[in-house]
Amino acid sequence: MSGPSGDPEQEHDQEHDHEDEHDDGHGYRHLRPDRTGQAEAFDRISSRYDEAFPDKEGQLAATEWLVGSLPAGSRVLDLGCGTGVPTARRLSEAGLEVVGVDLSEVMVALARDHVPAGEFHRADIADLRPGGPRDLGRFQAVAAFFSLLMLPRAEIPLALRTIRHLLVPGGLFALSMVEADLDDFPIPFLGGRIRVSGYRREELRAVVEAAHFEVVGESAWTCVPAGPDVPPEEHLFLRCRKPES
Ligand SMILES: C[S@@+](CC[C@H](N)C(=O)[O-])C[C@H]1O[C@@H](n2cnc3c(N)ncnc32)[C@H](O)[C@@H]1O
Repeated sequence: MSGPSGDPEQEHDQEHDHEDEHDDGHGYRHLRPDRTGQAEAFDRISSRYDEAFPDKEGQLAATEWLVGSLPAGSRVLDLGCGTGVPTARRLSEAGLEVVGVDLSEVMVALARDHVPAGEFHRADIADLRPGGPRDLGRFQAVAAFFSLLMLPRAEIPLALRTIRHLLVPGGLFALSMVEADLDDFPIPFLGGRIRVSGYRREELRAVVEAAHFEVVGESAWTCVPAGPDVPPEEHLFLRCRKPES
């Protein structure tokens, strides 16, 4: 059922935006996100990233779920797109309209090279928040593979809210995270350091459901990265849907 605007989605978001006014501006105002070193770390390792993580089975399967579920020409956002390989490239080759966003300028440049038909922006996930500085329009699907884990835990629900806002009603959301009980924790990474967050799998599901997504599928893959300083990881994939209303 739609409200006075006739657009149920807008109504729903307005309700949430109103709630967020009491939260002093979508929750971001109190956060002061600190990205020190994060973009630089990915700038530095960008050319080695795909070699260091060759085991992409789970990601490829989640990408195929999007390809098989979306009509040709659908707009898909690859959030934290990295080099554009394999996700943005596969989505683009499948006839979808791909927009990629990444904090790292070097990753964005590589993605533009790898996926000429895609549109890529250097931006922070936080910039895409409702009322934030970057409005890229609405999408039939969002993929966020191993990018939300670069945020402190306090910010992850806000990023999920941003993704919900970017999706049309019924839109699809493919999420992957590394299973870990960590919050903004510095780890060695390909010769440098990055800060990462994670959850145990039940908790991740709860966080995603609390952000008003339906979880329609879930899988886990054990991944052995090729890098010398990265131990085996459990990769969690959630296939989600934004409810129609
Ligand atoms: C672990 S990589 C994953 C890349 C790609 N999604 C993949 O699965 O191959 C994480 C990516 O997220 C980007 N990133 C980290 N923090 C971000 C932020 N706040 N906003 C946008 N991108 C971010 C990094 O620059 C990096 O390219």
